[in-house]
Amino acid sequence: MREFVELFGGHMMSAVPNPYPVYAQLRRREPVKAMEFPLGPTFLVTRYADVMAILRDAATFSSRANGKGIGLVMGRTIIEMDGQEHSRHRNIIAPMFLPKAMQGLEDVVQRFAHQLIDAIAPRGQADLVAEFARDLPVRVIAHLIGIPVEQYATFQQWSFDLIAFASEPLKGFAASEALVQFLRPLIAARRAEPRQDLLSTLAHAEVDGHRLEDEEIYSFVRLLLPAGAETTFRLIGTTLFALLTQPGLVERVRADRSQVAWALDEALRWDTPVQFVSREAATATSMAGVDIPEGHYLLVALGSANRDEERFKHPDRFDLDRHPTDHVSFGFGRHFCLGSHLARLEATVAINAVLDRLADLRPSDQPCGIVGLAFRSPDRLPVRFHPA
Ligand code: HEM
Repeated sequence: MREFVELFGGHMMSAVPNPYPVYAQLRRREPVKAMEFPLGPTFLVTRYADVMAILRDAATFSSRANGKGIGLVMGRTIIEMDGQEHSRHRNIIAPMFLPKAMQGLEDVVQRFAHQLIDAIAPRGQADLVAEFARDLPVRVIAHLIGIPVEQYATFQQWSFDLIAFASEPLKGFAASEALVQFLRPLIAARRAEPRQDLLSTLAHAEVDGHRLEDEEIYSFVRLLLPAGAETTFRLIGTTLFALLTQPGLVERVRADRSQVAWALDEALRWDTPVQFVSREAATATSMAGVDIPEGHYLLVALGSANRDEERFKHPDRFDLDRHPTDHVSFGFGRHFCLGSHLARLEATVAINAVLDRLADLRPSDQPCGIVGLAFRSPDRLPVRFHPA
């Protein structure tokens, strides 16, 4: 692990300023790099073509690696399942995340976004990460799951603690247990009286003729909460950062809202919120001339693939006219992000709400930047605008 941390400048994982020059060097010199990690021997894979080859081939590159990482606090979830077990469990909730289901959700997302902007609009200045982007997705996922609105803040804290378990394991396990205590009576209530929410769907779901155990439902929620809350806020923050720090882009997108979708895709490519996914070699294989023994792990660098000059011209540039449809920020293949349509809906509503409500939007003179290694986004986004 120390070797990995030192490779990226010895910073704390959450504070790495710029991993991209390191990725670029690895792509050129050592695209499949062997490293020691606490889990065991691991290969860091940085080229777009190799990343795609891994994500395409779920038989050789198993997702069970996740069971030995994040699965320790989440329990057994679809993110660590392979084959039919994965399909059967994913299919329980997949319909709730299809584009059709998103149509019914747009009003709710709008309402949450505008409530958050109501609180900052009169002030003329705000931190758009802490006071806007961070709060929106957690409210939406909590609403979808069926959590009472007064519990959203607690829910958000559990979400942070779950995902931070690698650096603070006690907090992660405490959040995992707190969620169980919180969900137990809610699940019982939904079994007795179903509502239109994800908890009801899970409480009544069957796999192979068996109803899901409570423990399986806890695990599903432990995955969905951070998956929904910890990722999309980063996309919103990075997109706003890119628009605000390049001259003329806020005005261009404000005047032509069809550009919002392309700004999101280019932000996803340019500074990928989830930088890595993990896999385990189910059989011995090789890649870029390097032998990968069975049981060894792969750290698949989505953030590097998205900056691969073999795939994207001038990859370090945020280019609103690039229109990238082939970035790997939501993964690829059978584990492709289940929440991608939800993330796009939330981020589209968020960017449009900011552009509609905050006139003369500009960065304040306080410094800010995109940071992180496992997850990346601006740590803060101080802005000024016309008070309204
Ligand atoms: C910008 C926002 C998001 C990004 C960048 C992102 C990224 C990803 C990536 C890279 C994967 C693939 C994991 C792998 O291959 O091992 C994934 C899977 C997943 N995502 Fe997202 N995600 C985002 C938003 C969301 C949202 C809003 C949800 C809603 C609940 C969500 C739920 C999931 C789930 C459940 C999986 C597991 C799918 C499976 O294993 O079959 N994600 N996400």
